[in-house]
Parts: sequence; C-alpha cells; structure tokens
Amino acid sequence: MERIKVAVEKARKQGLVDSPAHRSPVAVATTGAESGEFVDINYSQTDIVELDREHLKNHRILAYDKDNQSSWMFDILRTQVLQKMEENGWRTLAITSPNPEAGKTVVSINLAMSIAHQTQRTAMLVDFDLRRPKIKTYLGLKREKSLNDVLAGDIDIAEAMVNPNIPRLVILPTNKPVAKSSEVLSSKRVESIITDLRERYSERVVIFDLPPILAADDAIAVLPKIDCVLLVIGNGMSNQREIEDCMRHIPDASLLGVVLNKSEMPTRTYYY
Ligand SMILES: Nc1ncnc2c1ncn2[C@@H]1O[C@H](COP(=O)(O)OP(=O)(O)O)[C@@H](O)[C@H]1O
Ligand SMILES: [Mg+2]
Repeated sequence: MERIKVAVEKARKQGLVDSPAHRSPVAVATTGAESGEFVDINYSQTDIVELDREHLKNHRILAYDKDNQSSWMFDILRTQVLQKMEENGWRTLAITSPNPEAGKTVVSINLAMSIAHQTQRTAMLVDFDLRRPKIKTYLGLKREKSLNDVLAGDIDIAEAMVNPNIPRLVILPTNKPVAKSSEVLSSKRVESIITDLRERYSERVVIFDLPPILAADDAIAVLPKIDCVLLVIGNGMSNQREIEDCMRHIPDASLLGVVLNKSEMPTRTYYY
C-alpha cells in the first residue's frame, strides 16, 4: 500500500493528478533517457493491416499516429517504462489491475504503439486476457487467425501475429474467450510461448494485457512467468483493501510502477 501512496504522491508532484476537468492516465515510474540502436523487423511472414483512425479514436487509442499530440501521456509512460526495464534487464511486461474496467487494454495498446514509434525498440502486444479479450475489438482487427488457434495447436505463433502498419509493432490478438483460462495460463505451453517471445529478439519489449488480479486466478497464474508488472488503477474504482489484496500477489521486486487511470486533469483540454 505504501508503494501505491509513494507512486501517487510522485504523480501529484508532477502535476499529473487530482485536478478538475479531464480524465487521463497518469504514469508513475521513473524518468530517464531512452537508448539503443535502430532496429527493424522483417515482416515477410507477418500480415500487415491498416487500422481505421476513427475506430481507434472511439476506443481511446490515440498513439497510432506518431505525432498525435493527444498521446503525450503515453510517451511519458513509455520513457519511464523503458528506462526501468532496461535498468533491470526486463523484457516482458504484464499490465494488470485490481478490478475490471481500469483501462488496462487501452493503456496496453497505446503504450505498445508509443514504444514502437521510438526507433530503438520493437514492441509486441499479446492479449492474455483470455476471459475478456478486447485488443482485437479496440483495434478493429478482422483477421481469423489468433492466439486461440495457437493454443489449440492448429497454427504456429508467427501465423497469428499481425502488424498494424506501424514499423516495429507486432500484435498477437485473442479472438474469443478461452475455456479454463487459468489452467491454460498456468500451462507449460504458455510458459514456452512467453519464453519464446522473450528470447527471440533481445531488443523487443513484450507487453501482456492481463485480466484483473482479483477477478479470478488467471493473472496470478501467469504473473510469475513475466519479468515485471505495471498496475493500472482506475481512479475511484478500487478501495484500499482491494489494492492491498492485489499487491500481495505482486512480488515487490517486479512492480515497475502504477498508472492511476481515469484521473482528473487540470487544463490539458487536448487529452480525451
Ligand atoms: N483514461 C480514461 N478515461 C476515460 N475512460 C477510459 C480511460 N481509459 C479507459 N477508459 C474506458 O474504460 C473502459 C474500460 O477500459 P479497458 O481498457 O477495456 O479496461 P480493462 O482492460 O482494464 O478492463 C473502456 O470503455 C475504455 O474506453
Ligand atoms: Mg482489458
């Protein structure tokens, strides 16, 4: 709990929380420079799809266009996340929350896009919310192949990947809910998928959009397999006890930071 207080306090000092008018996510981690060399991925095997900007906007996906001023908050979050991951040698990032509807999927997609826009890094986004997969819907993807087919053993993981026409970004969508999801997420198969995604490219950041921690066992099953955790808290959506319960499942060392989402903003009228 103390860590959350510290995190929220940091955000307040940056002037990012607790003011009237606009609802905005607040990144709380560390600040610092981004480094590395230019990296490009060969997409010869990955389908490239163009996304509909209006559809994205309606689903709060603002970071699709590199120069969209409304996505500045995700660029700050990106800088903080990347620096902390680099410092610790982390390559896989879990995004979760205490309760549903905190904004995990919105944050995951925008963060992945923001990372990919930076030339030094490649980003991969995996829909591991096997109960309520939403990445496909928010992005407006129409592909039939997805993680569902990979988990069923029907296709290779590379066939399920899609590039939403942003260089250095790969999405692994889940098209429909998966039965016995917590068992699936605890399985050796999923462990080897995570290892494979982590090890294939050293400069890649893999983001896993997870279910909430308190709703079922799913997130708890998979968290130990992922290097670090970004906790999204929907402003006013979790009480102290829920946050404390949730923190018990996150090892101290792997908590990268907290995003206080849907908070009020001062004069930033261009956001949301
Ligand atoms: N900063 C925000 N301000 C207002 N609404 C938001 C914000 N972030 C997300 N939402 C909305 O909240 C709902 C839940 O978001 P979602 O990302 O699906 O949550 P989760 O993945 O945690 O269940 C969606 O309707 C989304 O558009
Ligand atoms: Mg979600």
